[in-house]
Amino acid sequence: MHAVAIVAAAGSGSRLGAAVPKALVPLGGRPLVAWAVDALLAGGVAEVVVTVPPAERAAFAAALPAEVRLVDGGASRTASVRAGLAVAGVRADVVLVHDAARPLTPPAAVARVLAALADGARAVVPVLPVVDTTVLVDDDGVVAEAVPRAALRRVQTPQGFDRATLVAAYADLDDAAELTDDAAVVRAAGVPVRTVPGDERSAKITVPHDLALAELGVGLTASEVHP
Ligand code: C5P
Repeated sequence: MHAVAIVAAAGSGSRLGAAVPKALVPLGGRPLVAWAVDALLAGGVAEVVVTVPPAERAAFAAALPAEVRLVDGGASRTASVRAGLAVAGVRADVVLVHDAARPLTPPAAVARVLAALADGARAVVPVLPVVDTTVLVDDDGVVAEAVPRAALRRVQTPQGFDRATLVAAYADLDDAAELTDDAAVVRAAGVPVRTVPGDERSAKITVPHDLALAELGVGLTASEVHP
């Protein structure tokens, strides 16, 4: 099974308040995107395509191994993944889509997604339980109702797909659509999405506190990515 990964790295990261795109922000002395690429390769992916902000192509090329292909991202994550998928290659049996903003994803979490695809799933997402009480609020922010959390899951990346299934689902999707993940794209096409256990270390870096937490976890994941 030949697996190609698309890393969505074309975001600005304005909520992180950094002077460079979020994917280039250093963690343990290396850019977030370099961690994400290494985790995918260590987890069993054969090739990686990274979607980048067009103006920052040279900086990404300097930060990544030469065999990683770079492609200009778009105005939304959905547009960026669509651009990556266009070059992901017909050699791929399966495609994994990952956020550069999840640098400390352990290789074992990547391998679980690949194993479910090898087992015949057409779409796979890593998930974690919801541990907080979860509520719906009205327009004034007043609690309208509590949501039973037993069946709720937080969805992470990398998300895995049979390549032809993902290509067909993106082809069916409106050009202007902006979805927060790729499983939503295939679900819109009626494809069932299987779940596998995610990992707390795959947490997405969004605000400065997330980066501070990740700095504490660098050693743990580094030993698994570069044993
Ligand atoms: O903004 P957020 O953290 O939700 O973005 C998730 C991922 O999507 C990030 O890794 C970001 O770089 C990527 N992205 C992208 N193209 C955009 C916006 C976000 O590749 N236009």
